[in-house]
Amino acid sequence: MLDTHRFPPDPWRLQETSPDAATHFLNETLFALGNGYIGVRGTAEEGWSGPAGTSLDGTYLNGFYESEPIHYPETAYALAKTNQFMLNVPNAKGIAVYLEDERFDPLQGTVEAYQRTLDLRTGILERSLRWTSPGGRTIAWRSRRLVSFDNKHLLALQVEVTPLNFAGTVRIVATLDGAVKNIEAGDDPRVGSAVSGPALTLLGVEQDESFAALVQQTRNSGFRLVSATLTAVESSHATAFEQDGLRLAQTFTVPAVQGQPIVVTKYASYHSSRDYPEGELLPRSRALLAQARADGFEALAQRQCAYLADFWQQADVEIDGDDALQQGIRFNAYHLLQSVGRDGKTNIAAKGVTGEGYEGHYFWDTEIYIFPYFLYNKPEIARKLLDYRWAGMESARRRARQMSHERGALYPWRTIAGEECSAYFPAGTAQYHINADIAYSIKLYWDATGDIDWLRAHGAEIVMETARIWTGIGSYDRQGRFVINEVTGPDEYTALVNNNYYTNAMAQLHLRFAATVADKLAAGYPQDHARIAAAMGLQEGEPAEWRRAADLMHLPYDTELGIHEQDDSFLSKKRWDFANTPADKYPLLLNYHPMVIYRHQVCKQADVVLALLLLSDQFTLDDKRRDFDYYEAVTTHDSSLSSCIYSIVAAEVGYQDKAYDYFMETARMDLDDTHGNTRYGVHTAAMAGTWLGVAYGFGGMRVVDGEVRFAPTLPARWRHYQFHIHLHGCLLRVRVGGDGTTYTLLRGEALRIHHRGRQVDLTAAQSTHTEA
Ligand code: BGC
Repeated sequence: MLDTHRFPPDPWRLQETSPDAATHFLNETLFALGNGYIGVRGTAEEGWSGPAGTSLDGTYLNGFYESEPIHYPETAYALAKTNQFMLNVPNAKGIAVYLEDERFDPLQGTVEAYQRTLDLRTGILERSLRWTSPGGRTIAWRSRRLVSFDNKHLLALQVEVTPLNFAGTVRIVATLDGAVKNIEAGDDPRVGSAVSGPALTLLGVEQDESFAALVQQTRNSGFRLVSATLTAVESSHATAFEQDGLRLAQTFTVPAVQGQPIVVTKYASYHSSRDYPEGELLPRSRALLAQARADGFEALAQRQCAYLADFWQQADVEIDGDDALQQGIRFNAYHLLQSVGRDGKTNIAAKGVTGEGYEGHYFWDTEIYIFPYFLYNKPEIARKLLDYRWAGMESARRRARQMSHERGALYPWRTIAGEECSAYFPAGTAQYHINADIAYSIKLYWDATGDIDWLRAHGAEIVMETARIWTGIGSYDRQGRFVINEVTGPDEYTALVNNNYYTNAMAQLHLRFAATVADKLAAGYPQDHARIAAAMGLQEGEPAEWRRAADLMHLPYDTELGIHEQDDSFLSKKRWDFANTPADKYPLLLNYHPMVIYRHQVCKQADVVLALLLLSDQFTLDDKRRDFDYYEAVTTHDSSLSSCIYSIVAAEVGYQDKAYDYFMETARMDLDDTHGNTRYGVHTAAMAGTWLGVAYGFGGMRVVDGEVRFAPTLPARWRHYQFHIHLHGCLLRVRVGGDGTTYTLLRGEALRIHHRGRQVDLTAAQSTHTEA
């Protein structure tokens, strides 16, 4: 497997040493930069002149979207009516360079040396090359780019062009290009939206001195956007402005002196009315860019580096013994940091801000996969992800009414701004487990932080309102069991079933947690309780009703096989004929009608096996092993959300080789493009799943009611590994090596943990403890 890796296994860098048209589209994703708001694909400043379909020059703003009606030739009541999709916004990177009359284009002429590097410690994407034009002029090119972690609106880049064998005149054309569009969808539901043509209407243009701005407006969602650039070219003679439709250009004429670099610095910003009143957008753009120029590129680069140094200090995972894996793990952590919205209004899309796959939508991927990553590595961001759900409360209430639930709130399966955007309800809206997933993440947050203020202000209301949906859709059957019918669980190769195990088990936890939270508030914070009860019209006996439903919850189990049933009908279906399914028929979703798939025992992803992890203490090890064996045999892992969960549970049940293989598959999924669609964006859930694989999988970490337990194992190929955990305001480092496990309290006064059932108390005075 190792020798098939696409990049040299450098633990801190991703480096491409020759340009390759065949992998260009894919590498644009991998070399994308972002800061949780702006996302810029790794396309070159000078553009791409390769064949159509080999590049997508995208710039995205997390949470900035257009909406369009969803057209159903055959519609039905309460289907999602409007889609929201992340827009490709004006390209601010453009810098064209003309050596006299020859345009710099690496696809023409000769590239004599080439390197493109993403450095995970500096946050800079750097490209350097030596190029000779068809007319024989040779230049050295170096460009550096950053998307500021310090200011979400800012991106900066610097290009140095050095004439190596000529003198004369060089023209630099700095562009701000609004003539961009989103990719058009084909048959693959995982790709982009079907919008064609520019989605933003032009309202105005500003061009003066070195500043350029496009003022635009979305047609339907009603947002205004100001995209702006400020370009500085040292020792330029003259400048001229041009506008060609939606494309603004500023030309600088510079005397070319052999051996002397021409330095172009470009600062760019995006401000939208999702964040500020319309009248503030232009002044804010001007002020920010003027400040950036005053600070200079080097100062911005230093800040970027400082931000990352702090991040790695708190969140680095170190693996000694496998550089390719180390690279994958850090690359994934870095992309998560680049992708995650952290303003309480935005979340993290399935593909981050690196591409248009899944249209910039947020899913349960956040709560079940990505949230724990941030909770234990950067808790302040985790909290912002919860704030986002709070911001969506009213939409969720409205959605519940549309779905004929008199009470409660139903969160959307996929969305940007809070409204349900799922056009295929069997594998969308029907995934009611989203409510329990959100409640689960709130419980995780509460258990790890004890942040009672957040619970009182927002969390309690979300947990209680969403719990009501279970008593709304569930009922008691003839045997007195609480049953939940007609839902879809996590596995999207099985739809609209009764009593999906995962859903019922998670709903049970949710209902109990909601009742506990209600009691806690009533006893300790009666005013908050009264306020929330009034807001949701809580009735006297509801928490008791939640407890009763939880206690009588039907959790399907097959005594003959000794396994948990994925749902009431799963085990009576015909097994998928894997032996006669050729490799090119995977993923099945692209090759079979959904009903063909639904009729069979075949899973796209972990479902029962995910419950084994999330509700770990509810199962015996034997149960886990039997469930694992059974479901592994019928799972394709066509979803990128599957292999990390299988890795973790495999580690727990003692299948070390499988644990390692599934882990490798997860850790380098995007770097090695194992799902074949990374060109449309990275897989953020799997990226977080990599961290889960280290901490939960090999580290054996489980947090049960606030108590953290470890049961570490060391994979045979590793000499040691270490990771960090933020918990109860403390920062813990866990290092697992051949000589045992060392726990170090890096920050905080005292922390109690459990190592293989034994209690370990760490204090500031006695901050280190080693277990053999
Ligand atoms: C998976 C879902 C997931 C979605 C977005 C689908 O392929 O089956 O579980 O939420 O992708 O990542």
